[in-house]
Amino acid sequence: MEVYRDLASLRAALAEARAGGREVALVPTMGALHAGHVALVEAAWRPGTLVVASIFVNPKQFGANEDLSRYPRKEVSDIAMLTDAGCDLLWLPPVEQMYPVGFATNVSVAGVSDGWDGAARPGHFDGVATVVAKLFNQVRPTRAFFGEKDFQQLAVIRRMVADLDFDIEITGVPTQREDDGLALSSRNVYLLPEERQKAVALPRALGVAARAVLGGATVDKALADATATLVAAGFAVDYVALVDAETLESDPAPGRRRQLLAAARLGNTRLIDNLAVDPA
Ligand code: PAJ
Repeated sequence: MEVYRDLASLRAALAEARAGGREVALVPTMGALHAGHVALVEAAWRPGTLVVASIFVNPKQFGANEDLSRYPRKEVSDIAMLTDAGCDLLWLPPVEQMYPVGFATNVSVAGVSDGWDGAARPGHFDGVATVVAKLFNQVRPTRAFFGEKDFQQLAVIRRMVADLDFDIEITGVPTQREDDGLALSSRNVYLLPEERQKAVALPRALGVAARAVLGGATVDKALADATATLVAAGFAVDYVALVDAETLESDPAPGRRRQLLAAARLGNTRLIDNLAVDPA
């Protein structure tokens, strides 16, 4: 796997690959990689494709009181993991390259960014949309891969791609989980051992709520029960919601695909998860 830290060299390598007839697929990440990221790299691979991963801990998507300074950084093991996963090229831009002095542009996707994590983390999705737009212009992939784990993020990216005419096919990859059901996340390393045990209540509560809704329970009751279960397990709940899987609006209209979304904190660690209620 080749590693690039400079935009001009990256562009030269990509131009050469394209001239050789290869298409470019992109997997954006913030590093501290795990099997969820590997699943994205594996999904991106197909014959004739140059698979590019990026690692950039994007300061613009962290709030002032969030974990930017302690976000796990593991460049050496990340490079080994990407190499093993069959990634061809790694883009590792320095922060001065992404946001040079004078940087003044913000990409803001209204509507789909506003609720849920957008409300809990003001400015977060602007930071995500801005950096992903930059990565798209730097790498110019024809396909890009994002996890369903960050369900609202995926919806924001799809909206931005449609609105700004990026000629890029976006694929959502199913959430990869631990054996007990906890969604893999770079932030799971923050969990203390007893918190890690309690964390499984989050995917379980979503599973119970999905079955209740499908079984005819009212949405209000299913969501209230899920919230109560999480509180009893020791979580501080930011939200548990049933939303339209595309627009992320609550109270989905009949016939629309529905998704359960949740965010809750155990101690200092904030976990998010989601679950489809209706088959795709
Ligand atoms: P990061 O949290 O590193 O995640 C990178 C990609 O991996 C995202 O598309 C995320 O949804 C996906 N992912 C994370 N955990 C997953 C899991 N358990 N199963 C499947 N996919 C999973 O998301 C970001 O970085 C950033 O916001 C980024 C898009 C790179 C912009 O900075």
